[in-house]
Amino acid sequence: MRFGADSLAGMAPGTSILFVGDVVGRAGRQALQTVLPALREELEPTFVVVNGENAAGGIGITPKEADALFAMGADVITLGNHTYRHREIWPYLDEKREILRPANYLPGQPGRGTCVVERGGTTLGVVNLSGNLYMQAGSPALVTVDEALREVSAADHVLVDMHAEATSEKVALGWYLDGKVTAVVGTHTHVPTADARVLPGGTAYITDVGMTGARGGVIGVKREQSIAVMRTHMPMRYDSADEDPWVNAVLVRASRPRRADSIEQVLRAAPPT
Ligand SMILES: [Fe+2]
Ligand SMILES: [Fe+2]
Repeated sequence: MRFGADSLAGMAPGTSILFVGDVVGRAGRQALQTVLPALREELEPTFVVVNGENAAGGIGITPKEADALFAMGADVITLGNHTYRHREIWPYLDEKREILRPANYLPGQPGRGTCVVERGGTTLGVVNLSGNLYMQAGSPALVTVDEALREVSAADHVLVDMHAEATSEKVALGWYLDGKVTAVVGTHTHVPTADARVLPGGTAYITDVGMTGARGGVIGVKREQSIAVMRTHMPMRYDSADEDPWVNAVLVRASRPRRADSIEQVLRAAPPT
């Protein structure tokens, strides 16, 4: 379903951004590997941005999974609260420009929160932010975003990934950035929300894109393990689920700089492998 412009028929081809929600574990990586080539053919996205914070065994990411996501066609990888789980990724975050940790983390923490990539003469600035409620971030997202936007001020389009638990923080950021950026997309809860729309000022918005991973689990974890922990309050092993993998994404189309024409949810079951 598409939300936004009534019809894009006859419109000159513009820029489109496919944003893929949190890739969780092997099931998520395999789902994306299988589904992304077809999505590329069908939707012809100019840019692909992938949240990879759960790519390694469901928590965090290592250079191996990051390289795999780039090889699949990600132009930029965004992260979140599990960024630093694996030490191997720390130097990678400093070396590789196209992988981001939240911009409002402490300045001393490895990595950067913004980057600009170019495809076919069009530039996309990407900003990663962390919410502040129930999450550990160095500064308020709604304040630090001003500085982050200055870093990508030359870009034709800007996409902000707001990795947050609280819907209120994501909705507030959407309104704050309406008319300033092409898209504000929420991540972290792993459940897609039904509020995708283009805000009055022209910014595409969704509270949560959802998860690219196994829908047969509990937000990516094997359901029997998650249920057992909730029923016993005892620590237990968590493994990534693999049953019923889906790709949860959104496609943002734009024909004017920093303004979206539409935002469309892309929710696809991965074919059995
Ligand atoms: Fe996540
Ligand atoms: Fe998260």
